[in-house]
Order: sequence, then structure tokens, then C-alpha cells
Amino acid sequence: MNLILIKNAQIVNEGQILKGDVLIKGDRIAEVGESISVKSSETRVIDADGFYLVPGMIDDQVHFREPGLTHKATIASESKAALAGGITSFIEMPNTVPQATTIALLEEKFTIASETSWANYSFMFGGTNDNLEEILKVDETKVAGLKLFLGSSTGNMLVDDPAILEEIFSKTNLLISAHCEDETTIKNNLEKYVSVHGDDIPMQMHPEIRSAEACYISSSRAIKLAKKTGARLHVFHLSTERETHLFSNKLPLAKKKITAEVCIHHLYFTDKDYAAKGTKIKWNPAVKSQKDKDGLWKALNDGRIDVIATDHAPHTLEEKNQVYTKAPSGGPLVQHALDALFEMHHKGYISVEKLVEKTAHNPAILFQIKDRGYIREGYKADLVLVNPTAPWTVNKENIGYKCGWSPFEGTTFKSRVTHTFLNGVLVYENGKYPKKGPSERLTFNR
Ligand code: DOR
Repeated sequence: MNLILIKNAQIVNEGQILKGDVLIKGDRIAEVGESISVKSSETRVIDADGFYLVPGMIDDQVHFREPGLTHKATIASESKAALAGGITSFIEMPNTVPQATTIALLEEKFTIASETSWANYSFMFGGTNDNLEEILKVDETKVAGLKLFLGSSTGNMLVDDPAILEEIFSKTNLLISAHCEDETTIKNNLEKYVSVHGDDIPMQMHPEIRSAEACYISSSRAIKLAKKTGARLHVFHLSTERETHLFSNKLPLAKKKITAEVCIHHLYFTDKDYAAKGTKIKWNPAVKSQKDKDGLWKALNDGRIDVIATDHAPHTLEEKNQVYTKAPSGGPLVQHALDALFEMHHKGYISVEKLVEKTAHNPAILFQIKDRGYIREGYKADLVLVNPTAPWTVNKENIGYKCGWSPFEGTTFKSRVTHTFLNGVLVYENGKYPKKGPSERLTFNR
């Protein structure tokens, strides 16, 4: 029997920080208490004095590129890197090759994950202009949700037929996650900039092309449609202050029908960073102004934004090192997720309790994930220890992604994830992976 006792940790859970111990038995949290004594000589004791113990992050938006784009990443490579960032569960997106737009293709991804994933997993089914029948066959108890690209991005999965969108919103029971950027606005902007600069548009202009206006038009249209049809809508990666006013904090999360996600890059970077980082921080939606970043933090803290994700979306350096119009959008992030967020905590943007709410409790509530997202007796032992004062610098040698680069290269983080437990097994420890743990398919209370 796997027995691990974590002692003297700052246990962060449900809005509180308590100094105490957590006993893991098998794959579950057996006991949480002020002081638990070792009950068997087989128990491994880990002294976590001075460390935070948090529930593993549940990342509701990643692109792990498998199948079909494995020159960029694989489920194995990225889920392993995710453990170092404190992520124990992920929900992966359908813009692979082939796209996950039939149940058979989606199940192939589940099979790959069951054989190779280092972390717990689920996937989103991809909606298109012509797969409504298949969407309606998806079993909501088995799949995280439905992803709709209401603005085109990597993978050409734009769903732009208003009549079809209305049918999907009206008929599906699935939670709809939407990428919202208005295609016509972006197209017009891009034409304007190409006519002046050709393909080599300065990166600083990315947020003028993929503009705040494009985000607002698309998010507000999706919300209007969700209100009209009663659909359950989750708007992915808000990037502007203006959009935050489309969301409410009046209801508890479990009762909301319209929710919002923000990603780490939009909380961390601003348009001032384009000069130094170039296409390494080219994302869709674009990283925008300081005012937008501040507005996102405000809405996150006051409950209008519900969850934090990474939108981990690796491309090779060769692909990224092209001119503006050719360089794909997206960048890797999972390996540094909690370290970057703790950095923002140190800078005063967020409390540790809130950080845990937005990375673990809320994704569990929002997706109705069974037995995860909390440090509670009987729950799965997906746990992470963070040393808040262990400065370290991101460099090529310590990057775990298949693509081999990070937008954080050269950055020194004050904190570091030191231990990650997956279903009770210590799978990551101080830069090493002692054991590939039993990753599990996420299950849902639906
Ligand atoms: O920047 C992005 N990259 N945004 C997306 O929506 C897709 C992603 C990708 O898959 O590369």
C-alpha cells in the first residue's frame, strides 16, 4: 500500500491556509489534520515545513498536438512537463491532425493518453460547420466539453455559420468552450497592415490586428446567443478589460451559465514585452495593454473571471522564427504554470488562497470533475508542494518541452514547484521524475 505523510505544510484549501499534515493512502487523501503521526514503518514521511501544499492545477485548455503534429509536442512530452508546473490534470483541445471532430477520432486521443500521459486527462470535442449530428451523440459524462473556434486560429476550425451556431447552442447539452475573436474585424485589420508592411509586420502591431474590438464583438455575440438559447457557455482566454464587463459575479460558480477563463500569458505579459520577446509571445488572442492586464486581474479577483488556464500551445522555434504573417500563434507554458502564478502572488496581484481557487477548485466545479481539485479526505491525492523562496532561472537546459523553448527563458522565479503527487504517487521531485504514475481519465459528476 502506498503510504505518504506530508508534514508541517501550509495547506491551502477552500479559502484557508492551515499548518498541518496530509496522509496519502493508495491513490487518495486519507487524512488532513494538524498533526498526524506515522502509523506504519512503510510510510514515507516528507517534511514540508515552509512549503505550500496545494491541490494540483486542473488546466482546462492545452494543445498537446497529438495526433498529427508530433514534431511540435506529444501528449507524453507535454504532460510530463506539466507535472513540473504543478498541473495534475489537463483538458486538451481538438485542433490536432486529424481534428477531434468525430467520436471515433476523439476516442483515439483518449487511447493515446491512456497509454502515454503522465497526468490525468480529458479532451474537448471539436465543433465545425458540419458535424452537428456527431456533436449530439457525444456523451457529456465522458468528455470535458465542446470547443468552438469563433475566430480562426491554429488548425482552421472556424465555425462561422450563424444558423449552425444557433442550432449547436440550442441543441447540445455539452459545456461549450469558445475561442472568441471576430474574423471579419481581424481580416480587415490584417489587410490594412499588410498593405503597409507586407508580411514583415512589427510584432507590436499584433494587438492592433487581433484587436480588443475583435474580442469584444465575438465574446458579446457568443454571450447573447447563450442567453437566447440557454446554452452553457465558457468563454476561453479573455484578453481585454472591456470583455470582463460582460461577465457577472452575482451567482456562485456552480449556478452560472456563462463563465470565463483567463490565461497566464495575458496575466503576466503586456504589449511592452513584444520588443524583447517578439513572436515568442504571439498568441491568439493577442497579449494586450497594461490596462487590459490590470482589468483581467481585477475581474479574476472579484469573481467575474472563474478560472486560470495556460492555453499551452507549442510550436517549434523554426516555425516561430518566421515573419509576422507566417509565425504561428501560441507558446508553451505548462511547465511554469504555478511558478509564474506564485511570482504574480509575490508581486501582490493575487493571494495564494485565490490562486488555488482559480487553478484547482473552480475548474473542478465548472467541469463537475469527480473527486479532484481540493485537499479533502477521500479525494484523489493530486497534490503539489511549492517552495515559495527557492529562486531559479528558466533556461534551455531545464526546459522539458519537446519544442525546447519557453517565453520565460532568462526569467528568475522566486518560487518553485518541488513535489507533484498524481493519484497518490510522487511523480515529480526537484527536477526529476521518480516514477510514471497512474494517470487517469477524468470522470464527471453530471
Ligand atoms: O495562440 C493560440 N495558439 N491560440 C489558439 O487558440 C490556438 C493555439 C494553437 O493551437 O497554436
